[in-house]
Amino acid sequence: MPIRPMGLAVLIAMTHSVPLPAQISLTEYATRREALGRLAGDGAVVVLGSGEPVREFDGFSQSPHLKYLTGWEAPDAALLVIRSGATHREMLYVAERNPAVEVWTGVRPSLPEAQRMSGIPTRVIGELTATCDSLLAAGAPLRIVGEFAGDASTIGAARTRDQVFMDALKARHGDGSITDGNRAVLALRGTKSPAEIALLRGAIAITGRAHQEAMRMVTAGWNEFEVQALIDYTFRRNGADRNGFFTAAASGDNATTLHYSQNDRPIQQGELLLLDIGAAFGGYSADVTRTIPVGGAFSPAQRAIYELVRRAQIAGERAVQIGAATDAPQMAAADTIARGLTALGLVESPTATYDCDSAASQQCPQWRLYYMHGLSHGIGLDVHDPDLSYSGTYGAGSVVTIEPGVYVRRNMQQVLPDTPRNRAVLEALAPALSRYAGIGVRIEDDYLLTASGLEWLSTVPREVAEVEAALKAPRAATPRVRDPAMVGRYRRSLP
Ligand code: GLY
Ligand code: MN
Ligand code: MN
Repeated sequence: MPIRPMGLAVLIAMTHSVPLPAQISLTEYATRREALGRLAGDGAVVVLGSGEPVREFDGFSQSPHLKYLTGWEAPDAALLVIRSGATHREMLYVAERNPAVEVWTGVRPSLPEAQRMSGIPTRVIGELTATCDSLLAAGAPLRIVGEFAGDASTIGAARTRDQVFMDALKARHGDGSITDGNRAVLALRGTKSPAEIALLRGAIAITGRAHQEAMRMVTAGWNEFEVQALIDYTFRRNGADRNGFFTAAASGDNATTLHYSQNDRPIQQGELLLLDIGAAFGGYSADVTRTIPVGGAFSPAQRAIYELVRRAQIAGERAVQIGAATDAPQMAAADTIARGLTALGLVESPTATYDCDSAASQQCPQWRLYYMHGLSHGIGLDVHDPDLSYSGTYGAGSVVTIEPGVYVRRNMQQVLPDTPRNRAVLEALAPALSRYAGIGVRIEDDYLLTASGLEWLSTVPREVAEVEAALKAPRAATPRVRDPAMVGRYRRSLP
């Protein structure tokens, strides 16, 4: 086909880089902002968006809080909500268009376009500071929602851009009326709306498809990075926006590393392959782990660990109930794991301890040597999203993972501090440590809690027999192309 010159207007339409996700309506965003105003009470709330990356080719990702409240996807924006009694006012601050910068970053909406797209009165971001100054001068309390040093997403940052903004306001107006407003938005984000649940279902369906692709294709001799490539290809080919997080393809001993990311090892026959993966769709991330036996059959030792992890997951599932304390599933799963590890000889008893520091001044449960992470977290705009733990009990509308694991590090002698008690523990456990050495299993699924119970969303083969049946089927030579039914159901804009 000949290449025809295009007019400027066509070019701009094609490169417009910030469409609002069609799946969440402007009415729903407005309802969320109203709820934020009610929750925060009289005064003002400023929600700061993410800045343009210093190296813009690093890719931009919007702050989940601003995205949740506005759907706005462009850098350097902020939302202001002002509440006084029953009166609610709001303003979206966006970056001004700059055609010279757009040469590098793509076309931004003009102010009128931004107003039409967001449904919020719009101003330029440069006016935000002066507006905050005048609100504070008039005595209004100001809550700032943003990324501050110490947040999970900013570990290591001395002072984030949002902290600098807050500190500058405090320097001019004093500390008294300026506070961190993140908690109110976190509380709102814990309960997912039907539209959010639909997007999560899409993300989870795409993620399940990628697991199924791995189960039908992977064979000994593949490198871990080839599995990663297959998974990431399947995500995008089926309409995912991006990866919700880096794909972990951990084979053999690598499966005992919790956040393995090197993905560069040839996979051997008879090993376990742990795949912790999640597509993002419409901004919402899935998070699903399967641990599969390469070659088609679990060894007896692998199977014993796998079945224990699955029993722990079932115990966790049973404990996720409306009104239950949010730590109940963790306690139920840990109890199952502690008793199961005792039966396997990997701990001396469910309550046995070891010296967790070399001064022997602190004792830790032995089961923690093999299961050292949390059981559950919310999923949503962040892969670790707020859930209902802000209230301390479960309620309807929470979408959470349940993800027990057991990891038997081969070098357990080096993991434990060298104390007389620990030497005795290692000696007592030596036969089991040798039998299960290098086995790592995690099973992670996504669930929706409703008034009628807990719905399992990530329906990928999971029981031993189902996983083995999938792995024993003849190996496919090529990945399947995209699933039109899946793409058509969740994202109509794709052909
Ligand atoms: N994929 C990260 C997690 O499971 O929490
Ligand atoms: Mn998880
Ligand atoms: Mn995960």
